[in-house]
Amino acid sequence: MRVAFVGKGGAGKSAIAGTFARLLARQGHSVLAIDSDPLPGMAFSLGLDRDDAPLPDEAIEDRPDGEEGPRYRLQAGLSAAEAVERYAATAPDGVRFLQFGKIRTDPRALFRSQLAFRQIIRELPPEQWDLVGDLPGGTRQPFTGWGVYAETYLVVVEPMAKSLLSARRLARLASAADTPVRVVAVANKVVEPDDAERVASRSGLEVVASVPFDRSFAEAERAGKAPLDVVPESEAVRAVACLVERLTHERTGVTS
Ligand SMILES: Nc1ncnc2c1ncn2[C@@H]1O[C@H](COP(=O)(O)OP(=O)(O)OP(=O)(O)O)[C@@H](O)[C@H]1O
Ligand SMILES: [Mg+2]
Repeated sequence: MRVAFVGKGGAGKSAIAGTFARLLARQGHSVLAIDSDPLPGMAFSLGLDRDDAPLPDEAIEDRPDGEEGPRYRLQAGLSAAEAVERYAATAPDGVRFLQFGKIRTDPRALFRSQLAFRQIIRELPPEQWDLVGDLPGGTRQPFTGWGVYAETYLVVVEPMAKSLLSARRLARLASAADTPVRVVAVANKVVEPDDAERVASRSGLEVVASVPFDRSFAEAERAGKAPLDVVPESEAVRAVACLVERLTHERTGVTS
């Protein structure tokens, strides 16, 4: 499975993506969690205490003159799968975590790391790895390169006017993308019984999960801890578990 969480800033992408990645790994999948947000996010909801895991310089080389392609690439002889084994951080439940580097990193090193990071995602064998991405907030990045690996975009939407509007725009951008992708919504911080329905009708997207507003979930996050470690029985974590179940079931036709 290759999914990317998108949506307006603060909608809950990182919190849900980190929890989703670990629950998927618990079902026996090899999961690579991909954080392409230059600000901190997914690492904490995965339960890592560091927020960056860029590729080291030794993994990257200049592309030889005359050869087509981006300026930097993985070292010759280093496959995408080996780069993940060697350099991706290991989060709880065996989730591997890659981050292209935070903005405090030197810009040239960041650029090198980003190109190699994209190469890894492009070349990692899809039959061996499930990808769970956390994209930066907003409407621009998902369809301009950063989310190209995704087969399914999960738009995280709060049932509030601005978030609903963003979801609608994302839905339109997705339908205009070159490659056909599936775009669905995750209603988050749901309070009222008709919130999920509002998300569906206002965004025009199918709502595949409805995650309640859950104070304990937010408190775990505020403390910089993974909700799955602190409040595994919370309503919000359960709702994410249902989402994992649903998407896995849709792929295989078998419930785990
Ligand atoms: N279901 C929920 N119930 C309560 N609080 C939630 C829920 N989901 C997320 N939150 C809280 O909302 C805040 C924003 O969540 P998060 O950081 O995951 O959003 P984001 O979409 O990744 O934001 P950004 O665009 O800044 O990266 C966090 O404090 C998080 O704990
Ligand atoms: Mg985030």
